[in-house]
Amino acid sequence: MAIISILNPKGGCGKTTISTNLARHYHDNGLKTLLVDTDPQGSSSDWHAAREDNPLPFISYGKPENLKALPGIAAPYNNIIIDGAAKLEGMIAAVIKISDIILIPVQPSPYDIWATSDLVDLIKARQEVTDGNPKAAFVISRAIKGTILGNEISAALEEYNLPVLNSITTQRQVYPRSASQGLSVFDGFMALKARLEISSIADELDNMITQGDIRNVA
Ligand SMILES: Nc1ncnc2c1ncn2[C@@H]1O[C@H](COP(=O)(O)OP(=O)(O)OP(=O)(O)O)[C@@H](O)[C@H]1O
Ligand SMILES: [Mg+2]
Repeated sequence: MAIISILNPKGGCGKTTISTNLARHYHDNGLKTLLVDTDPQGSSSDWHAAREDNPLPFISYGKPENLKALPGIAAPYNNIIIDGAAKLEGMIAAVIKISDIILIPVQPSPYDIWATSDLVDLIKARQEVTDGNPKAAFVISRAIKGTILGNEISAALEEYNLPVLNSITTQRQVYPRSASQGLSVFDGFMALKARLEISSIADELDNMITQGDIRNVA
């Protein structure tokens, strides 16, 4: 079982989009997957409720202290995907403590990258007292199709000394269009490229899980 958290207090960087699609990807591939909303805005909750027959198991936690209950209900699942809050406060610190992997979506702009520094500090402080857990990596989110990501973006990210996934998401209409119906890019849209983006992120996460000493995905 692995707890994968999508965290970045910067609003609109793609946390909910990546969380919901990643969870559906794992679910569709036969892995028991729980989607967890920890954001008081409740976007994942709204997404889940928008579809009456949503096949994904789902739970929402409104308070950091309640999150302590999550490891207790985690056992039946192969993967738990946590959609993070949009403010750096107690909830994010609580999520960091129970995560095996943290994925930090970041839009390809220096301002957005610099804005992650407090989150990175929190993650690194946790890693220092736990022998390197949770693992963490950046993923470029919402890149403009066809543009080459500048060296300055890579350089800014490298300064944090955390891995950056090779996979990215690009700006595609199918993400908001599917979300508005409580659906994912795997739900019958002509969305081959978006599906590849999400499955390729999942592949890299799976590698991080299997290469490390993380509790293994069953
Ligand atoms: N790759 C993408 N292509 C097009 N639109 C996207 C993409 N990723 C996210 N969006 C859209 O951008 C907006 C913000 O994305 P999302 O809600 O996933 O970000 P978030 O980090 O969860 O935001 P918040 O901090 O408010 O929770 C949404 O309208 C979403 O549909
Ligand atoms: Mg969100």
